[in-house]
Amino acid sequence: MQRVVEVEKLTIEQEYENMLRPLCFDDYIGQSKIKKNLQVFIKAAQKRNECLDHVLFFGPPGLGKTTLANIISNEMNTNIKTTAAPMIEKSGDLAAILTNLEEGDVLFIDEIHRLSPAIEEVLYSAMEDFRLDIIIGSGPAAQTIKIDLPPFTLIGATTRAGMISSPLRDRFGMHFRLQFYSHEELSQIIIKASHKLNKVCLVDAALETAKRSRGTPRIALRLLKRIRDYAEVENELEITLERSKYALDELGVDGHGFDELDLKLLKLLSSSEKAIGLATIAAALSEDEGTIEDVIEPYLLANGFIEKTPRGRIATPKTYQLFGQK
Ligand SMILES: Nc1ncnc2c1ncn2[C@@H]1O[C@H](COP(=O)(O)OP(=O)(O)OP(=O)(O)O)[C@@H](O)[C@H]1O
Ligand SMILES: [Mg+2]
Repeated sequence: MQRVVEVEKLTIEQEYENMLRPLCFDDYIGQSKIKKNLQVFIKAAQKRNECLDHVLFFGPPGLGKTTLANIISNEMNTNIKTTAAPMIEKSGDLAAILTNLEEGDVLFIDEIHRLSPAIEEVLYSAMEDFRLDIIIGSGPAAQTIKIDLPPFTLIGATTRAGMISSPLRDRFGMHFRLQFYSHEELSQIIIKASHKLNKVCLVDAALETAKRSRGTPRIALRLLKRIRDYAEVENELEITLERSKYALDELGVDGHGFDELDLKLLKLLSSSEKAIGLATIAAALSEDEGTIEDVIEPYLLANGFIEKTPRGRIATPKTYQLFGQK
C-alpha cells in the first residue's frame, strides 16, 4: 500500500516538473556560458547537416540537465529517446535501444555513471564509429557481429562526476558542468513558472523564495507549488511577500534553504575544533562519501559555508555565525 502511494506521489511530482520544463533556450534561464556554447555547436552541426557531437552534463540534482537534453533535441528538431543507466542491465538492452534509433536522434542516458563496464564497452564503438560490436556465444565458438548504426547524439547526465570512467568521459565531445543559480535567476524561474500556474508571483516574493532554494530550480519550483497552495486557500491571485514568508516558515524551510543533511554536516563541522575527514563525515551522516562530495558539499562550498583543507573539511565563520557561535 505504502509503495503505491509513493509511486503516485512521484508521478504527480514528475508531471509538475514536466509541465514547467522550458522547451527552448530562450525560456531556459541562467547557465549562460553553457547555453551560448551549445547554441554555437548546434548551429554549426546544422550547417554541416551533421548530428551534434556527444554531450555530457555534470552537476548536482535539479539544476537542469534533463531539461537541457530535451532542449537540445527540440532545437535540433530531432526525436529524443530517454533512458537511465540502471535500466540497461544487459548488452542486449543497449543493442535494442541503439538499433531502434533513427538518423540524427538524441539518446539521453541519465545517471550514466551507473553503466556496467560490459555495457560501457558496447557503447564505445557505438559512440565512436556508430557501429555495434556484439559478441555472441563464448569460448572458441564466440562470434562478433557488427551492426551499423545511424549517426546519433548521445547525451549523458550524471550527478557524480568522479564516478565516470575516463574512457567513457573521453568519448564525449562536449563536457558541461552546471552551476548553482543566483537568487535573481531563480526569481525569474519562479515568476515564469507562476504564470504557467495561473498565478502572479510578485518580485519580492519570488526573491524571498529564491533565497531559500539552495541555488536549485527544482527546489524553487517545489516551494512555489506549496506557496501557491497557501495562496489558493486564501483566494489570492497574487503571491505576495507576506504569503510566501508565511508559507515558507510554516513549511520549516530555513533562511538558506538548507535541508536536514546540510544542517547535520554544518553542525558536525562547527562543533569540532579540528578538520574532519570525508570518511568520518560519511559515517556520521550515514551517507556514502561520493554523495557527500558530489551532491551535498558543492552548494556549501560554493557559498562559503565550508572549506576543504588537506586535513579535511572545516566550518567557516559564516557557519559559526549561523549557529550563533564565536
Ligand atoms: N535553467 C532553467 N530554467 C528554468 N527551469 C529550469 C531550469 N533548470 C531546471 N529547471 C526546472 O527545474 C526542474 C528540474 O530540472 P531537471 O529535471 O532538468 O534537473 P536535473 O539536473 O536533470 O536533475 P537530476 O540530476 O535529479 O536528474 C525542472 O522542472 C525544470 O523545468
Ligand atoms: Mg534529470
